[in-house]
Amino acid sequence: MSFSKDFLWGGAVAGNQYEGGYQDGGRGLSTLDAVTGGGYKKPRMITYKTKDGEFGEAPIDSSMTGNIPEGAVGYIKPDTFYPSHMATDFYHHYKEDIALFAEMGFRCFRMSISWSRICPNGMYEVNEEGLKFYDDVFDELLKYNIQPVVTIDHFEMPLYLADHYDGWASREVIDFFIFYAETIMKRYKDKVKYWMTFNEINVLSGWCQIGIHSNDPQTLYQAHHHIFVASAKAVELGHKINPDFKIGMMAAVIPSYPMTCRPEEVLESIQFNRAREFYMDVQVKGYYPSYKLKEFERLGVKIRMEEGDLEQLGRGTVDYIGFSYYMSTVSTINPDAEQTEGNQFMAFKNPYLETSDWGWTVDPMGLRIALCQIYDRYHVPLFIVENGLGAADEISPDGTVCDDYRIGYIKSHIEAMKQAVEYDGVELMGYTPWGCIDIVSAGTGEMKKRYGFIYVERYDDGTGDFSRRKKKSFDWYKNVIATNGEVL
Ligand code: BG6
Repeated sequence: MSFSKDFLWGGAVAGNQYEGGYQDGGRGLSTLDAVTGGGYKKPRMITYKTKDGEFGEAPIDSSMTGNIPEGAVGYIKPDTFYPSHMATDFYHHYKEDIALFAEMGFRCFRMSISWSRICPNGMYEVNEEGLKFYDDVFDELLKYNIQPVVTIDHFEMPLYLADHYDGWASREVIDFFIFYAETIMKRYKDKVKYWMTFNEINVLSGWCQIGIHSNDPQTLYQAHHHIFVASAKAVELGHKINPDFKIGMMAAVIPSYPMTCRPEEVLESIQFNRAREFYMDVQVKGYYPSYKLKEFERLGVKIRMEEGDLEQLGRGTVDYIGFSYYMSTVSTINPDAEQTEGNQFMAFKNPYLETSDWGWTVDPMGLRIALCQIYDRYHVPLFIVENGLGAADEISPDGTVCDDYRIGYIKSHIEAMKQAVEYDGVELMGYTPWGCIDIVSAGTGEMKKRYGFIYVERYDDGTGDFSRRKKKSFDWYKNVIATNGEVL
């Protein structure tokens, strides 16, 4: 057997892409509530109001990183469609959805808590109705023996903190975050064992994700320092609240290969990969690595630290590494090399690999390579908390959704996981394919780009009755879990 008996098979989603109910139950607004849908190669727009009361729109780039002018605040325009407002309406469908996850045999379910549902303006006021909602969700999951895996912060922040504090650029946000994290970790200490602090910490930037109004390196790395300190404090506090908690970090893993064996391209790929490893080094080893300190010197970045920050990083190291894996990329010194779309950025095209309909490189062996490299470097358990294929699924006239391409993608990635476990000895805790039920795409804001085993009738023009139906991959994945990954 490749996978342990208690291997965490499940699925993953995020609040702003799935939950909806944006004004229900006393929830406050979050940055993503002021971001419109976009489309393939059509940017999502942040709608805002400037200090002088003028309305404006700023595009976010291929991911979520867009900025708005200094002093501008997020603004929801009337008669405009905002995908996060209803998303795919987990808020009103959680019982039905969890029953479907249980039918597939899920042993865990990765979701995020919406900070502004717990603390409506991100500060010290607590919304009991919001806490109660997640109590109900966790109770429903536990009824079926599904372990919740909770991301404390997934790509959004309370709008008030972005508007009034310049988000994570402000040191005070650490205390607000810790208040929120402590509130939920205490409340759910007997219901949730698996936590992750920040989703894809290595790509966090811009107003939507971390509330900052400029992505210049000084602002960005200062904000990241605050996020590191906040994460380390939350990890330390969580272990005190319940010593059985398993608290992980979460990174986007997009391994890069050198385009050729030219030493310059090998070095280029080392540097590309280091940009990610920096975040793992801080959160797993507990200190700023020398290569990054040298980079700060070159960039003229001076991180303002308070006494005790570095010790705090050392005391708040994580128990495991959670990561997303969708694709690999290549590094080259040839500026004219062909490019393709990628997760959060434009990637160079690998001539040996196919791409998805959204241009992302499909590379199952890259997952095995990533697992080996990460495990060899850190020796902590790994958890693949996102993986999957975004595709334009169609309902056939007979009502079925035949997503064989998704089955093929996930099968090949599970095979790669198996090899990493069986041959390479990687300690793997679990696997939660992304968007296990259809949700809004983070990068494009579309419903058209679907990942789920369950189809949701919701469309980009805002129509659809939110009804759910099983895709072909539903029964296939159910059997994968039932056989603990033996039958693919
Ligand atoms: C990851 C994010 O980067 O990629 C998710 O953590 C996101 O939030 C996922 O949805 C897939 O990206 P997209 O743009 O296809 O939704």
